[in-house]
Amino acid sequence: MTNLSNQDSGSFSEHHDALDWLDPAVLRPRFEGKSIFVGITGGIAVYKVCTIVSRLAQAGARVSVGMTPSAREFVTPTTFQALSGNPVYTDSWEHIESNDPQHIALADRCDGAIVAPCTMNTLANLVHGRADDVVSLILAAIDRQRTPVLLALAMNEAMWNQPSTQRNVRQAAKDGFVLVGPDDGWQACRHCGTGRMSEPEACIEALADALRR
Ligand SMILES: Cc1cc2nc3c(=O)[nH]c(=O)nc-3n(C[C@H](O)[C@H](O)[C@H](O)COP(=O)(O)O)c2cc1C
Repeated sequence: MTNLSNQDSGSFSEHHDALDWLDPAVLRPRFEGKSIFVGITGGIAVYKVCTIVSRLAQAGARVSVGMTPSAREFVTPTTFQALSGNPVYTDSWEHIESNDPQHIALADRCDGAIVAPCTMNTLANLVHGRADDVVSLILAAIDRQRTPVLLALAMNEAMWNQPSTQRNVRQAAKDGFVLVGPDDGWQACRHCGTGRMSEPEACIEALADALRR
């Protein structure tokens, strides 16, 4: 199965370079002072996002994390609060940083956002304009003409190959989301195939690339 997302978005895949995208010295000039939203959804690859959040925070970015209820079945918000140094958004109705509608305040200050892992379900929600969990609500308030939103797709190969997923991937690229991955390789379902979330280095590089545009 070819990687439709990379073909369609054309914004990230070939131009990997020799930089170490986990090295704080590489990341600091690109992310220091930047406000980054990391939306976490319910996939097993959530463990990789700990590295992404930690490295962005080490680079001096202001990292705000939001988690869907399914994401919280895999890792608790405490982990991301500790790694980011900021409260974690888990509820559309709870105001944790602002007395204004929190999703608008956060979306307004955001320089870039990444959903990682991005599940089949959240991809479908975003393509269909749903905003009924805190991650999709915050993303709904981001103007993608001004602020890049990356989706690090991650799912089992059968889910990736569903016609609905492939339609949603094409539509997401047309709607201006920047698609990262998925990669081929070992999957948590103990098969090899397409659907693995891209590694933290590739996600961070894609985010740096998107912020430059
Ligand atoms: C153990 C386990 C692992 C899962 N891994 C994934 C995954 O990698 N990708 C995916 O799209 N869904 C995965 N799911 C299914 C999602 O968690 C489920 O579709 C959920 O409704 C997604 O909700 P969210 O998109 O709001 O986070 C997994 C479910 C379980 C129980």
